[in-house]
Amino acid sequence: MLSGHDIRKTYGAFVALGGVSISVEGGEILGVAGPNGAGKTTLFDVLTGRVKPDSGTVTLDGADVTREGAFKRARRGLARTFQAPLVPSSLTVGETLEVARIAFAPRVDKAEEARLRDLTNFTAPDGKIAGALDTLDRRKLLLCCVLLHGPRVLLLDEPCSGLLADEIGEIEDVIRRLVAETGMAVCVVEHRLEILEALAKRVLVLDAGEEIALGSPQDVFNDPKVRAAYFEAPAGASA
Ligand SMILES: Nc1ncnc2c1ncn2[C@@H]1O[C@H](COP(=O)(O)OP(=O)(O)O)[C@@H](O)[C@H]1O
Ligand SMILES: [Mg+2]
Repeated sequence: MLSGHDIRKTYGAFVALGGVSISVEGGEILGVAGPNGAGKTTLFDVLTGRVKPDSGTVTLDGADVTREGAFKRARRGLARTFQAPLVPSSLTVGETLEVARIAFAPRVDKAEEARLRDLTNFTAPDGKIAGALDTLDRRKLLLCCVLLHGPRVLLLDEPCSGLLADEIGEIEDVIRRLVAETGMAVCVVEHRLEILEALAKRVLVLDAGEEIALGSPQDVFNDPKVRAAYFEAPAGASA
């Protein structure tokens, strides 16, 4: 459904992505893991058209979209959420959802909004100021906003960050339900491997802009390269 082939992105002399490939199919939840600074968000930025790669190709449903802007890719059914759950601080929940509905042509009706609130278990009242929501509800609101556009591929950047253990379980349930009900392809960035173990059948692990492992959560968790990237101090660091 969505794939990136040999993606390279540098910032000056710094290599953020050194030739990374990724692919995710409909009905699949693919995990993307790796320590801080590994290049996970940059990979999402390139896949969605927010950042232009130095080289490599991105295909969506078989079409080469490497040179297409983010808006066009969104039109083709590609959606993402961001690490930081930024919501409009002065709009209400209802207004925020309405903006997402009417920003899309043809406009999405209110019934679909209600269906998605149900699917995501998002129960905050329409009249509540979005900026006053807690992290879980902010994440659910933003998820509803992107789901209103009926994406077929959904990229979630650290959807569980800032959440408590039972809230993480709730988001995991929502993600699984989404995939089961819509058959969409979902890619989840998360550095905690135990969360991906509960969600994904395949996990791609990045470190310093390179793929260091790809396989089942159990396999990558036991991979010496992954353990080194996660648990060993970087070269040159002293205790
Ligand atoms: N716009 C930018 N300019 C310079 N460096 C950047 C930029 N964006 C990301 N980087 C660097 O690229 C590396 C990977 O970042 P990122 O993809 O956000 O990592 P992750 O999401 O895995 O924590 C980091 O070292 C980060 O500082
Ligand atoms: Mg990140």
